[in-house]
Amino acid sequence: MEHFITFSTVFLLIFGLQYEAAGSPNKATVTNGGIDYNERCTLKDKCKYTNTSCIDGICQCQPGHAIRLRGKQFLCAEIIQIHNIVTIEDHPWVIKNETCLKSSSVDKSCRNSSCNSGFLVDLIRKIDQDMRNMNNCTITEVSSIGSLDSSTNPPTWKTGIMAIVANNQTDLAMAPFGVKHLRVPELGKIMRFSAIFVHNTISATNFMFGFPLASEIIWQFDLMTYKLAKQRYLEQLLEKWFVNGTSSWSKKKQLTPYEPNRVCRTM
Ligand SMILES: *[C@@H]1O[C@H](CO)[C@@H](O)[C@H](O)[C@H]1NC(C)=O
Ligand SMILES: *[C@@H]1O[C@H](CO)[C@@H](O)[C@H](O)[C@H]1NC(C)=O
Ligand SMILES: *[C@@H]1O[C@H](CO)[C@@H](O)[C@H](O)[C@H]1NC(C)=O
Ligand SMILES: *[C@@H]1O[C@H](CO)[C@@H](O)[C@H](O)[C@H]1NC(C)=O
Ligand SMILES: *[C@@H]1O[C@H](CO)[C@@H](O)[C@H](O)[C@H]1NC(C)=O
Ligand SMILES: *[C@@H]1O[C@H](CO)[C@@H](O)[C@H](O)[C@H]1NC(C)=O
Repeated sequence: MEHFITFSTVFLLIFGLQYEAAGSPNKATVTNGGIDYNERCTLKDKCKYTNTSCIDGICQCQPGHAIRLRGKQFLCAEIIQIHNIVTIEDHPWVIKNETCLKSSSVDKSCRNSSCNSGFLVDLIRKIDQDMRNMNNCTITEVSSIGSLDSSTNPPTWKTGIMAIVANNQTDLAMAPFGVKHLRVPELGKIMRFSAIFVHNTISATNFMFGFPLASEIIWQFDLMTYKLAKQRYLEQLLEKWFVNGTSSWSKKKQLTPYEPNRVCRTM
C-alpha cells in the first residue's frame, strides 16, 4: 500500500475548494494499487493508502486515524489522546460553575463535565466528537494566565497557565490566545499556537489555542479548525455565545474582549 495521499486531494477537501469545479482528473480512479483517497468504493475494493479503508462507501482514514500533514505529505496518522487541559475562567470563552466544581459526585472529565461551559468548551467537545481524543482527560482550573519572573536568567514563568505549560504538565491551554500574546517573545519560548479559530479582519482579532512547545497534537486541532470553519460551525458558536448569549455569562468575568460583527461574516 502507498503511504502518502496526494496533496491536492486533501488540500481541496480540507480547505473546501470545489473539488468538481477544479476539474479534478481522478474520478473514482481504480489503479492496480487500489482506490484513491476520498473516492467511492465497495467493501470488496482495496483502498490505496496505508491506514485507509472503505467506510460508508468512501475510501477514508480508518477509525482512530485522521489525516495529517507531515513534511509535504498527507497520511492517515494515529490520533493522539489528550490527557489534561488547563484553563482559566474568561466569559463566555470559558464559564465555570463553582457549585459543580466543588461537588465530588459529578463527572469532571473533559468529555462530559458539566462544570465548564462556553465557546471553547463547545469547541473542544465538538473536536472530541469527531476525533475521540479525550477518552481519559481531565480539566485543571487555574486563576491566572501567569506571570514572568525576570529576576532569573533566563526569565521563568512562575504561576498560572504559563507555568503549567512551561513544565509540560498539560497538553492544551484552553484560553483564547491572541495577537497580544504573539507579541510576547518570552511566551513563544514555551508555547506554540493552533490555527486561528476566531478571525475578524475588521477588529483585527485572531484567537488560537496554546500548546507546550513539544506538543504532538496541534495537527489534530488545526485539522478540525479547518473542517469546522468550512462547516460554518465556528460561526454558529460565535452566534450562540457572543450574539445570543446565555444567562450564565457575566461581563465582569470576561478577560478577553471580542466584538462580534453581526452583519459581516466573522469567519
Ligand atoms: C498507520 O497507523 C499506525 C498506527 O495505527 C501508525 O503507527 C503508522 O505510522 C501509520 N502509517 C502511516 C503511513 O500513516
Ligand atoms: C451548576 O452545577 C450545579 C451542580 O452540578 C447544578 O445543579 C446547576 O444547575 C449548575 N448551574 C448552572 C448555571 O448550570
Ligand atoms: C461520559 O459519559 C458517557 C455516557 O454517560 C460514559 O459512557 C463515559 O464513560 C463518560 N466519560 C468519558 C470520558 O467518556
Ligand atoms: C487515565 O489517565 C491517568 C493519568 O493521567 C492514568 O493513571 C489512568 O490509568 C488512565 N486510565 C485509563 C483507563 O487509561
Ligand atoms: C518540556 O519539554 C521540552 C521539549 O521536550 C523540553 O525541552 C523542556 O526541557 C521540558 N521542560 C520541562 C520543565 O520539563
Ligand atoms: C440565536 O438566536 C436566534 C433567535 O432566537 C435563533 O434563531 C438562532 O438559532 C440562535 N443561534 C444559535 C447558534 O443558537
